[in-house]
Amino acid sequence: MDGIPDDAQLAELEQVALTVAGEAGRFVVDERPDHLGVARTKSSATDVVTVMDQGAQDLIRARLQGLRPSDAFLGEEEGGSAGDSGLTWVVDPIDGTVNYLYRIPSYAVSVAAVVGDPRVPGQWAPVAGAVVNPVTGEVFHARVGGGAWVSGADGRERRLAMAPPPDLDQALVGTGFGYAVQRRRWQAAMLLEVLPQVRDIRRIGSAALDICAVAAGNLDAYYERGLNPWDMAAAWLVLTEAGGTFTGLAGGPPEGAMVVAAAEPLHGQLEVVLGAAADAAGQE
Ligand code: IPD
Repeated sequence: MDGIPDDAQLAELEQVALTVAGEAGRFVVDERPDHLGVARTKSSATDVVTVMDQGAQDLIRARLQGLRPSDAFLGEEEGGSAGDSGLTWVVDPIDGTVNYLYRIPSYAVSVAAVVGDPRVPGQWAPVAGAVVNPVTGEVFHARVGGGAWVSGADGRERRLAMAPPPDLDQALVGTGFGYAVQRRRWQAAMLLEVLPQVRDIRRIGSAALDICAVAAGNLDAYYERGLNPWDMAAAWLVLTEAGGTFTGLAGGPPEGAMVVAAAEPLHGQLEVVLGAAADAAGQE
């Protein structure tokens, strides 16, 4: 991918991602109202977008505009902007919105700087990013060539290096489901094919945390159809910097149609099974 900044710039971008994701994480926890309102709905009634979601994105966007005024911005909620630096900040203010609503402590703020056009699969790549779970205090971060790192509530950092994975039949595989009924039918049909071939399935409810969990060895693999750039951007880099592989199907780029995350050779094994399962599931 062209336009990757030099290491000093990458280090700055990583620090900015950490700073704004940390601030937004504190905001969504500290400012959470007792009775959370649902601001509007997206693809279906279960896709709740809270006032806090938009508020967290507005906060991140304002902070980035101050720190990095020439960069573009693409967030899950309303309000994107163009820039002229060649970098775009791709932001999910709360990944795992439903967990947030239910106070299940698996949601995250995801902030990544990317090169290329994040709206076009195969035409972009993350160069620095952070994923912050504001409840557990877990912070994942990475920059190109700088390794993937995690720190917990005690603030101690460790570098992530993925171990050789198990075979597929022993693999604990994370996945997720979209909000639209038709998408879910297709995902259920896929699951019918995949579930008998793996150790077990987990649906944790935050794609960013799922992918970081693979990087940290808390899941062996992850796949999902229907992710958007903001769900995957920062975690993608954490995974690849930890030694994992992140693609779509058949070696294609990660995209809405499918993302597959694991270390090799498990990644390749899962990709084959998912390809066959997608054929069996037919058209969505
Ligand atoms: C969702 C979560 C979920 C995944 C969905 C995503 P959101 O993001 O990452 O785990 O299964 O596909 O849309 O809506 O909570 O930001």
